[in-house]
Amino acid sequence: MEVTASTNIALIKYWGKSSLRLNFPAVGSLSLTLREFTTKTSICLSEDGKDHFVLNHKPMDPLEKVRVEALLKAVPEKKRVPIRFLSSNNFPTASGLASSASAGAAAVLAVNYFFQLNWSFSRLLMLALKFSGSAPRSLSGGFVSLEPDSARRKIKIHPLASPLDTLVRVVVVRCGEGPKEVLSRDAMELSKKSSPYYPAWVSTHRADLRRLKRALARGEWDELFSVMEHNTLKMHALTLTSQPPVMYWTPATLAVIRLIREKRSQGWLGGFTMDAGPHVKIFTDAETAEKWADAAGALPGVTGVLIASPGGPPRITIEGKEWEWDGFPN
Ligand code: DP6
Repeated sequence: MEVTASTNIALIKYWGKSSLRLNFPAVGSLSLTLREFTTKTSICLSEDGKDHFVLNHKPMDPLEKVRVEALLKAVPEKKRVPIRFLSSNNFPTASGLASSASAGAAAVLAVNYFFQLNWSFSRLLMLALKFSGSAPRSLSGGFVSLEPDSARRKIKIHPLASPLDTLVRVVVVRCGEGPKEVLSRDAMELSKKSSPYYPAWVSTHRADLRRLKRALARGEWDELFSVMEHNTLKMHALTLTSQPPVMYWTPATLAVIRLIREKRSQGWLGGFTMDAGPHVKIFTDAETAEKWADAAGALPGVTGVLIASPGGPPRITIEGKEWEWDGFPN
């Protein structure tokens, strides 16, 4: 059996946890699932009686393995058999696209189907969340919000309809190579503990989410860009004001941002967001995406450009039969 899940990019960021044990987010988030960038995960019975964990055709490193092993703890002992867990991404690790989102969504569904567990929707959400805070969003296609209910320690995800949902494209501009300076998991904890702006991030976050949802519902590009950029710059202000500071940007990052501001003043459609790394993601439409790719690709320090379009929910294949996962409760 095999599950294919797409990764996602957040327009409104998750940054900070209220519980490390549950990996429970302190704020909501809103993302777009991307069609072209996927994780494929398959599970089969292990013939030598031991578990094997493979990522991109190599044994997983301990940090990757620990998340899958934690997930397997949720399988009842009487159903637990040794497995071969094989996962691969169709996009490069340093591409600026988060692989933990698609990996988490694919892993949770693969375990659910392989062990025939029939987990409820809310259980799947919580297990995906524990794997990675951005993973539950990859259980849905298109635009999706993730809303935490801190009092009940539950999350909800909502697919969001928008007139922009077929028009939107994301130009991923790589602004450097190599592993990131600090993992997002560590950097967000550092922000919480040491940035004086962390309380303001949390208290102003709900308003950003509300504004972005309204912009999406109305199909308002300018408002979408305005709130998306404000939210990502606040997140980066947190990392810069942590102690010690975390600086994800390279000179190319700033050059791309300046290009966006300049071209936008000349009428080009586009706005940016950035995750825990130097790469810039430009939200735009299909017509303008190629122009952004050419202009950004020509800047010094830019190491690659990819164009992505909106994607659907995960796909499941069991015994040659393939279908789109639709586990949302009615
Ligand atoms: C900047 O989901 O990778 O991409 O829950 O610790 O695994 P963990 O973090 P992760 O963090 C994502 C941070 C972000 C913003 C976002 O995707 O919302």
